[in-house]
Order: sequence, then C-alpha cells, then structure tokens
Amino acid sequence: MRKVNVAIMGLGTVGGGTYDILTENHEHIKRTQGVDVRVRRVLDRDRERVLGKGVPAEAFCESIDDIAADKEIDIVIETMGGVEPAKTFIIKALESGKSVVTANKELISKCWYELEPVAKAHGAGLYFEASCVGGVPVIRTLTESMQANRVCELYGIINGTTNYILTKMTEDGISYENALREAQQLGYAEFNPSADVDGYDAMYKLSILSSLAFHTSIPYESVYREGISRITAEDIKSAKELGYVIKLLAIGRRDGNRVEARVHPTFVPQDHPLAGVRGSFNAVLLTGDYVDDIMLYGRGAGARPTGSAIVSDVIFCAKRKTHDYTDFGISNKADAGIELATDFSSKYYISLTACDRAGVLASVAKILGDYGVSIGTILQKGSVGEHASIEFLTHTASEKAVTEALSKIEKLAPVRSIDSFIRCL
Ligand code: NDP
Ligand code: HSE
Repeated sequence: MRKVNVAIMGLGTVGGGTYDILTENHEHIKRTQGVDVRVRRVLDRDRERVLGKGVPAEAFCESIDDIAADKEIDIVIETMGGVEPAKTFIIKALESGKSVVTANKELISKCWYELEPVAKAHGAGLYFEASCVGGVPVIRTLTESMQANRVCELYGIINGTTNYILTKMTEDGISYENALREAQQLGYAEFNPSADVDGYDAMYKLSILSSLAFHTSIPYESVYREGISRITAEDIKSAKELGYVIKLLAIGRRDGNRVEARVHPTFVPQDHPLAGVRGSFNAVLLTGDYVDDIMLYGRGAGARPTGSAIVSDVIFCAKRKTHDYTDFGISNKADAGIELATDFSSKYYISLTACDRAGVLASVAKILGDYGVSIGTILQKGSVGEHASIEFLTHTASEKAVTEALSKIEKLAPVRSIDSFIRCL
C-alpha cells in the first residue's frame, strides 16, 4: 500500500472541505485507490480554527519551513489563495521535492510560467484541477481524455458566484446585493467579491483552460473581461421576453492561429444546454475536431466539490512515478505566430432610451445599417413621459462596427441614453 503524507496550507472553505474528505473518506480511498493518504501538517493563521476542525495539535504549524523541512511530507496542498505568500510557499515546497496541489487560479494564471520550471527542475508535480470549475474534472478531461483532438471551442459557465447571483435574480427576483450576500455565506465567493462579479475569476480560469485546450499560452491579460455588475433587473426581464437567459459566459475559440478568449454577460437562448445551468452549478462545453461536443456539468464552487477536485489531484499525483509538464512552452506571453483576437463577431442585444417621436427609430436603424449591422428584432416599450425604451436584437456583426455605430447613435439629439449592450449566443 502506497503511503502518502500531505500538508494543507490554508484551512478555510476549500482546505476545510479537503480535510473532511481525507479524514471521512480515508478508508474508502485506501480500499478503492490503494493509497493511504494522511494529513501530517496543517498550516494556517488561526490555530483555534484548525484545532476546532479536529486536527491534532501536533499537526498545526505556522511556517512553511516546518513543511519544507519535513522529509515525510510528499504532497503540499495550497488552499490559502492570493499570489503572495502562496507563490513563495509553493516554490519552497517544490524546491524541497514535494509535489503541489492547488486550487489557486489567480496564482496559476499569473505565475504558472514561473512555477512549472521549478516543479520540473525538482521532479515534482504541479496539479491544479481544483483551480477551474470546482468539482468538475475539466482539466483532466482536456489533458487525459481529449488528446486525440484539436479543441476548437470552449464555452463555459465557470464562476459559481455569478451564476448563483444571476439565477437568483432571474428566478426569485431577489436583488443583486442580496444574492451576492447569499453566495458569500455559502462559501462560493472569493475573499474580494469583485474577483467574481467583475469577471476576474472567470478570466483567470479561462486563461488556464484555453492555454490547455489550445496548447499555447493565453495570458490572462489578453482575455477580454466584463463582469455582471451592470446587469439590471430590466435586462433580465427583457432577456426572458425575447427567449433568452443571461449568463456570464467564458468563450475560447481557436481557428488556425487565431485565438479568441473572452468573458462577458451573454444572452443564451433558453433551449441551449448552458441555459439550464443554475445556481452554483457550472458547465463547460468543449468541441474537439474528432469527438465533437462534450459537456461537463457540476458544482463549480464550495468546500466539498472543490475539496473533491483537490483530493482527486492528490490521488492522481500519488499514483505517478513521474509527472507531466505542459507540451508547449508555458510563458507570460502568447506564443509567436498566435493572433489574439481583439474584435469578435456576435449578435447583440441593445437597449436605448429615446424621444418617442416619428423618425427616431429610422435614424437609429440607418446608423446601424451604415455600419453593416443588420437588425433582427425591434421592440418598443411604453413611453416614459416623452421617452420610450427601444430594444434591438441584431444579426451577427463585428463588435467594432457595432460599438462605432453606438457611439454615433449616442450623439443623436433624441437619444437620451444607451442602456444596455449585451452579446448574444
Ligand atoms: P478561505 O478564505 O475560506 O480560506 C483560506 C484559508 O487560508 C483561511 O483559513 C486563511 O486564514 C488561510 N490563510 C490565508 N493566507 C494565509 C497565510 N499567509 N498564512 C496562513 N494561513 C493563511 O478561502 P477559500 O477556501 O474560499 O479559497 C482558497 C483558494 O481556493 C483560493 O485560491 C480560491 O480562489 C480557491 N477556490 C475557492 C473555491 C471556493 O468555492 N471557495 C473554489 C475553487 C477554488 P484567514 O481567514 O485568517 O485569512
Ligand atoms: N469564487 C469562485 C466561484 C470559486 O464562485 O466560482 C470557485 O472557483
């Protein structure tokens, strides 16, 4: 029986879930996987919190040096979050020959190119399944199950907090603020919720997933990012009326050497498989040139699902004599020859407020037409005093053309405001 000693750094939501699985399912894992995983050390700022989880007092430590110096420890689990000191601690663990399992998407997306060479130089493994899409095994699917394919598309709902908020706003009509508070109480939200609601978390994850999917570095800075904080109850209502549901989508596409990577709120048709992904559930739709579509679905956040991904990495790592590293030169820059797209094609939902009088609609439609943007649907809603709300769904158009047209439309005297501009799937 292979015996494996682990250290957990950070016993919060995810570290706590990981500890529970490793203790409660210890015998099950031993019997089914042939690996006897023991938690030998737990590092955290708060000793009482650690002891309160049932961790023996002698296992508690406050310094990475205690972990790095302990020759009995094989694998270090990092669930503290943030870049520093997590990065320094991980490097120390790797330099002492210990493999690392982490849930830290911010750190991996920002510093993968620095961490992987250290792991490689010391023959250690660096595993981060839990960093993307919680309990859903998307990284293992990309690296261990889709090798036969060129992956050409990835569409995902990859942030649990924002999906929870949008679902609650859509289905229960609760406010954005209350839904966010609930997501925080349930342990889904990042320490700074802006990471979730402004799309940073999904951007980090998409950078990791699209790099693995397309076998080329896609730096997080090159991912287009827009969060959900501007989505209003009115947008959600309009989406419903038009047969859509609003989701924060992560989209990665590779066509030859052209790569698109973007995160933004999206009108998703109600009959699309991603439309039914509710609450803290996440899903990723991958398209490979031979396998066609694969859809992975499950909980994208929370102690137990994310702990499940961590423990899966621990077992995967423990069973290997050697470790794999990326087959492309991981770097903080896009590979030479890769064109990172800055203009996209999409359909758009546009809503504006304008004077309710003859000729206004025609002048707006003319500008869209001048930029080659063709209109699919127009709705005009009841006048507010002298003003009316006009909503458009366009046919597929270049984003550059649509934004240029909108900046002209905004200047028309009868137009009071452009209220919404949301891409449609
Ligand atoms: P928590 O804040 O719940 O847990 C982090 C723990 O680490 C806390 O106990 C914290 O202590 C401790 N800690 C942080 N910094 C240090 C330090 N320098 N020294 C010692 N202890 C430290 O965060 P989560 O569990 O939610 O997230 C952890 C990681 O997992 C993050 O990278 C996150 O992005 C990722 N993740 C989270 C998911 C989730 O659903 N929550 C899902 C997938 C990934 P203190 O509270 O005192 O700061
Ligand atoms: N805050 C993240 C989310 C945690 O809501 O998806 C999981 O990565």
